[in-house]
Amino acid sequence: MAADRNHAPDLLHSGRPGPEPRGEPTAISGRDSQPLIYLDHAATSWPKPEAVIEAMTRCLRDVGANPGRSGHRRSIEAGRLVYAAREALAELVHAGSPLRIVFGANATEGLNLALHGLLGPGSHVVTSGMEHNSVMRPLRTLESRGVRVTVVSCRPDGSLDPAGMESAIGPDTALLALTHASNVCGTLLPIKAAGEIARRHDLLLLVDAAQTAGAVPIDVQADGIDLLAFTGHKSLLGPTGTGGLYIGERVDLARFQPLKQGGTGSLSEREAHPGFLPDLAESGTPNVAGLAGLAAGVRWVLERGVDVIRSHEQVLSRRLIEGLKNIPGVQLHGGGDPSRQTGTVSFNVSGMTPSDVGLRLDEEFGILCRVGLHCAPAAHRTLGTYPGGSVRFALGCFTTAAEVDLALAAVEQIARSR
Ligand code: ALA
Repeated sequence: MAADRNHAPDLLHSGRPGPEPRGEPTAISGRDSQPLIYLDHAATSWPKPEAVIEAMTRCLRDVGANPGRSGHRRSIEAGRLVYAAREALAELVHAGSPLRIVFGANATEGLNLALHGLLGPGSHVVTSGMEHNSVMRPLRTLESRGVRVTVVSCRPDGSLDPAGMESAIGPDTALLALTHASNVCGTLLPIKAAGEIARRHDLLLLVDAAQTAGAVPIDVQADGIDLLAFTGHKSLLGPTGTGGLYIGERVDLARFQPLKQGGTGSLSEREAHPGFLPDLAESGTPNVAGLAGLAAGVRWVLERGVDVIRSHEQVLSRRLIEGLKNIPGVQLHGGGDPSRQTGTVSFNVSGMTPSDVGLRLDEEFGILCRVGLHCAPAAHRTLGTYPGGSVRFALGCFTTAAEVDLALAAVEQIARSR
């Protein structure tokens, strides 16, 4: 399916025939049955494909057992569901083996697993000025325990010069930790260049793909990514409570410290925790129903194609960005170039606080978005929007051009009535 500059492909009705989200893609019943427009996909995606809901229902109703523990037929079936999720994720990011995908509750857990797993007193990490608190907070905690942290400044549009990152590397540097795309303004960071730098200096590269997995093509091998944290509930269209970490072959598992130890269903005769993946980094009963839903979400994305989803979101973000640029009193943040960002767009309206704009969008127009600092004060400092924050419209694969136009008309009306 081709997407040109101005026409977004219809993802809802494309691809494999089968169950899809019911009704209008983002029409939720609101107050007084007002149709709502959901522009908060960077926080979590909605709706979910019908296949996700069915997979979770089937797991809870018909499987219901603990995977990898008991050995009876239902336990084996539960284990298959979890392995199918590993296979889907491995295919999506081009991991060498499904066993290198470890699951947890969200991208935050994946990031904490990587950062606490790799860094100890005396080691140095280089990160960017566009990170979310899911990177900055664990790094500040590690800093208080003797880890050296360098935050490389980004340009005011959120972009990063890889040379700045390279010049921050020292003899003690162990890791580069970078977001793939800002959750505030969508700006994409130079992951491939960072991968080349990491290899040149024999370092590891950790990428936070919370905003890109499922929305932007990712190839951990071609891009030189050693660790990739992902969340299941955003562009992978799965449920909340799912996410994890890809751990690549350059990571020394013998020196990797997992966040927790416990039952894995393997090597049960020993009290020492297993040293192999995924068990090293996964203990306790997993979220089987959530992972069944995640597998269905990733399959849905793979069947449509990440490149097709990317084209759809690029066409719509161009429409949104161009529209916002033409509204008097609106300041756009970030680079304003859809080819260098995701479908997440931040702006402010002169003379109004982001929360006033967000409240009016919700109350008067039924438009749901996120305002404020988006758990990313570092990114807002870079963009010059700290401490007030911004209004964020985050498009998703089910967003339509008509919804973008309604959102633009609403912002124009609000800006005119200041
Ligand atoms: N990190 C998510 C967001 O940006 C929750 O909204």
